Parts: sequence; structure tokens; C-alpha cells
Amino acid sequence: MFTLTKSFALLATILIHLHTSAAAPTQARQAPRPSSPSGSGSQFANAPGGQRSAGGASTAPTGSSTPQDVTTGTACAVSTATIDTSGTTLPAPSFAPSFIGLGVGTQNYTCGSAGTYTSTGALAELFDVSCLVGQSSFSSLQSTAFAAWNSSTSTAVSSTSGVLSSANVISSPITLGQHYFITNPVTGSGLSPKWDFTSNALAGNADAFVVAAKVDDVAAPTGSADVDWLYLTNLTGTTGTLANEIYRIDTQGGQPPASCTSGTADITVKYTAMYWLTGGSF
Ligand SMILES: *[C@@H]1O[C@H](CO)[C@@H](O)[C@H](O)[C@H]1NC(C)=O
Ligand SMILES: *[C@@H]1O[C@H](CO)[C@@H](O)[C@H](O)[C@H]1NC(C)=O
Ligand SMILES: *[C@@H]1O[C@H](CO)[C@@H](O)[C@H](O)[C@H]1NC(C)=O
Repeated sequence: MFTLTKSFALLATILIHLHTSAAAPTQARQAPRPSSPSGSGSQFANAPGGQRSAGGASTAPTGSSTPQDVTTGTACAVSTATIDTSGTTLPAPSFAPSFIGLGVGTQNYTCGSAGTYTSTGALAELFDVSCLVGQSSFSSLQSTAFAAWNSSTSTAVSSTSGVLSSANVISSPITLGQHYFITNPVTGSGLSPKWDFTSNALAGNADAFVVAAKVDDVAAPTGSADVDWLYLTNLTGTTGTLANEIYRIDTQGGQPPASCTSGTADITVKYTAMYWLTGGSF
């Protein structure tokens, strides 16, 4: 479990990396290679940002030395990885990636008077896949996770860690935190999405959350059963410093039936997605 002590260890590691890569490049740690950037045009090396951006920028574009993953302590390529939004019009990031969470959960809907479902939020567990980005399994994780979650008899989001490990999607899932909705803290009305790592990966860090606002959405390129891909940014006037931007991509499932009978009960629809968090101060 990530602790404040480990946060200092991470910072120290990065400083040592920066120091040693300047003084003795041959000692640089070999990180997994990011999967080939397929033309999204994203550039992180010049992005503003925190520690991880600085670590990535010192080694880009080869990624021969990268910061360690906060939860596993292993070297990983997250800060130099490409957020693959090809085939969509989502904007390129302005900050380097800092976390990749495999989200497994439910989208919630209520049946409106027009006989169609409208979104009432979502709840998901986010599992740390930040250091799997260079591995061959990475591109299919959301699909294998969805297959396991959708075929599980459980609908409880709290069961998703067990679902992933029993299906051997991830043998020992590490929980980054939760994604859920809260009342918009600035206006006091409407719902705002929140990503909250304060109870898991960044326990002890009261600011390890982000409340965001949607900037852009596009239909999932994978088909109409999958919820939209989104680009969100941290909501002005909120305090969490977990991320500056959030991408929801590689979605599987989550769409409601096309129509409903007004007055019927709310529904939850299972989904998975890759959440990429950029920037932030962790
Ligand atoms: C969404 O549904 C889950 C149950 O799957 C529930 O725990 C959660 O509170 C709901 N969230 C909202 C915003 O309704
Ligand atoms: C998810 O599971 C349900 C049965 O619970 C099934 O009807 C549906 O087709 C499955 N969805 C996908 C995309 O496999
Ligand atoms: C939100 O992001 C902007 C830049 O995108 C940054 O200037 C601001 O400090 C961030 N707010 C917080 C609370 O991190």
C-alpha cells in the first residue's frame, strides 16, 4: 500500500534518476517500451507538469529511464506513454500521464418521461495498470476485464477486485482508488465526476483526488454498446491535485437500452474503461 514515506521515496528515486542519468547514463533503468504510438500526435516531452513529466522529459523519446510506479515500485513507462485517441477527435493532452487506471464498475441510469434513459452517474474501482502499458496484454485488458465482469453474477462494484483475480485478468489487482459522482462542489447543483485515491494508493494524502468537468466527448470507435470516450479537466475552484486532465478511453459496455417505460426503476449497466490521469502532483 502506498504511503507518504513511499511518496518521498518516489521523489528521491526521481531525483536520483535525474542525477544518475546526467552523470552516468549507462546505469539508467530499462523500462518496458510503450506500445507504438499510432499517430495521436500527443507529445509529453514538452508538456508542463510535475515530477513525472520532468522524469519523462529527461529521457524522451527512448524511455530508457523513467520514474517508478507509485504502487508497485517498479520502473514503468507511464509518463512517456501515448494516450491512444486515434480515430477520435479528443484533444491531445497538455500534461504527461501520471496514472493509468483500469476502471471496472457500473453506469447508472434513470428512465425519463420521454421514455429514454439518462445518466445519473457511475461507480467504479480503478486498478493500477500504469506499469503494464508496455506489455502485450495492455491493449486487451479492458476487454478481458469486461468479459469477466459482465459474466460475473455479482453486480457489487466492491467485488470487482475478486472478479479480476479469479478470471486471471490481473493476478493481484492493486486498487488505485474509486471513481464516483458528487454534487458539484462549486455550484452546489448537478453531479460532478470525482476520482479519489485517498482511501487506497495515496492513503494519507488528503489532496489525492480530482473533481473534473467534461470538456469533450466522442462516440466510442468500438461500437454503440460502449460508452463514449471523454476528455475532462480539473474543475476550477476545487482543491484536489490528483490530476489536471482525465481521459476515459477504451470503453467496453455501459450503454443503457435504447428505450424504457417511464416510471420504471433505475438501472445499472456494467462497464470497463481505461482512465488516464495526467499532470497532478503525485
Ligand atoms: C450508482 O450505482 C451504484 C450501485 O451499482 C451505487 O452504489 C452508486 O451510489 C450509484 N451512484 C449514483 C451517482 O447514483
Ligand atoms: C453481458 O452479459 C449479459 C448477460 O448478463 C448479456 O446479455 C450481454 O450480451 C453481455 N454483454 C456483452 C457485450 O457481452
Ligand atoms: C487545475 O489545472 C490547472 C491547469 O490545467 C492548474 O493551473 C490548476 O492549479 C489546477 N488546480 C488544481 C487544484 O490542481
